[in-house]
Amino acid sequence: MNDEMIGMSSALEGRHVTVVGGTSGIGLAVARLVARAGAEVTLIGRDAERLRRAADEIGGARQCVGDLHQSATFGALFGSLPEIDHLVITAGTASLKTLRESTAEDLRWAAEERLVGPLAMVRAALDRLRPTGSIVLTSGLLAERPTYRGAILAGAVAAVEAIVRSLALELAPIRVNAVSPGLVDTPLLDSFFGEAKQEALATAAASLPTRRIGCPDDIAQAVGLLLTGGFITGEVLHVDGGGRLI
Ligand SMILES: NC(=O)c1ccc[n+]([C@@H]2O[C@H](COP(=O)([O-])OP(=O)(O)OC[C@H]3O[C@@H](n4cnc5c(N)ncnc54)[C@H](OP(=O)(O)O)[C@@H]3O)[C@@H](O)[C@H]2O)c1
Repeated sequence: MNDEMIGMSSALEGRHVTVVGGTSGIGLAVARLVARAGAEVTLIGRDAERLRRAADEIGGARQCVGDLHQSATFGALFGSLPEIDHLVITAGTASLKTLRESTAEDLRWAAEERLVGPLAMVRAALDRLRPTGSIVLTSGLLAERPTYRGAILAGAVAAVEAIVRSLALELAPIRVNAVSPGLVDTPLLDSFFGEAKQEALATAAASLPTRRIGCPDDIAQAVGLLLTGGFITGEVLHVDGGGRLI
């Protein structure tokens, strides 16, 4: 363990970290990192079996079924938890459609998943969050780098970035930040690229300044920094291999 990890470890030791979306990909990597640092972990996701598997994988965690699209359940969900030091919301799906292809339901779905759901979760968690704690939301490279069929998701994740700056003032001294991942190899990309995934990722990697795409641990390290950096608030931390620059 290097000095930075030892610092992170002592800052998270015994803290309660709740990870919404902790059953897969980036959220699972965050859960693993904070568990290794000695935190008590609560995982929230839509499926009891996936929650159980993720909890086993990180050596044990409290498991709560919750869905970003079911905001009426959040009061009972967070009411059942002990005080929270850090709330991390990485949960999300990603579907790309042109505006012409989309339906009104698609637009509502994106707004609910990226704005209404996370904001309602934060609101439900407020009475449980310690004033010394923090919140980390998830944006994405699309907020800054447009792609064909990306307008709806781009708008939704860009709004997350505006939200953290305002909430950092409103909820202070609780710190509020966001992580903005670039292309990261997680199960999310399986549905995105299908059988063409490996080829698409190799092409993307070659064009990035880092010459590789991200792995979930790259993003988890950045989230760890946001959780433990007591002077960081209202920040969007871009972890994209330089994807914004090309
Ligand atoms: N991977 C990338 O390249 C990339 C790039 C930019 C941004 N991001 C963003 O990073 C976040 C994490 O992505 P990932 O790549 O780690 O995806 P992932 O591996 O598919 O994991 C997504 C997680 O979100 C949970 N989830 C999905 N919908 C949910 C809902 N309605 N309510 C509660 N939980 C829900 C899933 O849990 P269950 O299925 O068990 O419910 C799962 O734990 C997403 O917001 C994604 O948009 C990813």
